[in-house]
Amino acid sequence: MALSGGHSPFAGEPRLIIDPALPREGYELSVADEIEVRGGSAAGVFYGLQTLRQLGRPTPRVSITDAPRFGWRGVLLDVARHFMPVPDVLRFLDLLAFHKLNVLHLHLTDDQGWRVEVPGWPRLTSVGAWRSESMLGSRIHSLHDGTPHGGFYTAEDLRAIVAHAAERHITVVPEIDMPGHMQAAIAAYPALGNGWTGPVRTGWGISPHVLNLAPATLDFCRQVLDHICDIFPSELIGIGGDECPTEEWTDGQSQAAFTALMAEHLAGRGRRIYGWDEILAGGAPPGAVVAAWRGIEPAEVAIRAGHQVVCCPDVKLYLDYRQSEDPGEPTPVGTLLTLEDVYAYNPPESPLVLGAQANLWTEHMESLRRVEYMAFPRLCAFAEVVWGPAERDFADFAARLPEHLARLDALGVNYRPLSGPRPQDARPGAPGNPRALDDRLAELHEMTADLR
Ligand code: ACM
Repeated sequence: MALSGGHSPFAGEPRLIIDPALPREGYELSVADEIEVRGGSAAGVFYGLQTLRQLGRPTPRVSITDAPRFGWRGVLLDVARHFMPVPDVLRFLDLLAFHKLNVLHLHLTDDQGWRVEVPGWPRLTSVGAWRSESMLGSRIHSLHDGTPHGGFYTAEDLRAIVAHAAERHITVVPEIDMPGHMQAAIAAYPALGNGWTGPVRTGWGISPHVLNLAPATLDFCRQVLDHICDIFPSELIGIGGDECPTEEWTDGQSQAAFTALMAEHLAGRGRRIYGWDEILAGGAPPGAVVAAWRGIEPAEVAIRAGHQVVCCPDVKLYLDYRQSEDPGEPTPVGTLLTLEDVYAYNPPESPLVLGAQANLWTEHMESLRRVEYMAFPRLCAFAEVVWGPAERDFADFAARLPEHLARLDALGVNYRPLSGPRPQDARPGAPGNPRALDDRLAELHEMTADLR
């Protein structure tokens, strides 16, 4: 794991030492006549090398002692709403590693596309991975682009992603969203649904067409999860669980019972479930880790119920939400979420809080360049939220940021300029639907009533 000699600005290779006396992901970096990186583990050494990389030019003498505040420094990438080819995912992983982030939550399936090849279920990808067109902008406008979209990953593709991530000390937590957000699978295999037949969803929003919970469908879910476990070594396996409408369920089917069965199956393989905070309704299975997304309250509910929790409140950490009120922002949706807002976020204090996660839902990001625009520089701020101390000074961050943006320039990252969107960043054909924070908070309070 040495810096490649040809690119190192320093004479000689750094000395790399694993020192178990240090925190596991912590490191000490010393640049003097020699360069030494001492880490609590290989991950700690890796982070020390990232810092060395960021120093970027010969530095006379530096001594840094550093360790992260949280063990879960996550980002969700939604490859269901827009498929991202493998090289794009690998580049995204490189950018996460450069920011010392260590979890990629990979959202692999949704109403608008199924992205994993599964043995024995060929129509999941021959049918479920393709939609006839996509919506342009927010769903309130009902505009469509008339252009087919799709793609999927083979097991070999996913293993390449997992390996690339592992080399960078990133855990890929896969998610198969169930029992809602399943329209693409039901389009492929209508027997999984409740009598509806139709295509992969072309509009955004939540499909009413959800899994039935008959034994054959539960077996399908177990087969998919088994295949996912064969590919992904992560102890946690995402089963989704968000936004499942129940109108199609007429005979007492229960999402809590379904979630318990999936948790039991995964437990048999030594895995635990990672689910959205909806799984708290009716009681989440023991050992479930909760992704608390519906504002700030559900994290507190999860903690009170004794669950480990990853905080990803939409109003603080959804990077698909608009970055400014500038009319040139591409497809402005959600509430206003500035760089300063992200920097100011802190999860609640509790030993059950594993960390936090920034989520990149890609309805309005049709390419990695668009993902980079929405992610950066807010993800730089997020990296300090989860790595740095609870007390942070935005003015200090803002003063350091231009130097970091020069590093992103060198990497060709399409970050949003601090001065605002450039003319070419606009998506005039894909209008948004900006929301006011008070309205959204009231809506979230209503949505989470069943947790209180
Ligand atoms: C979510 O944003 N539906 C988890």
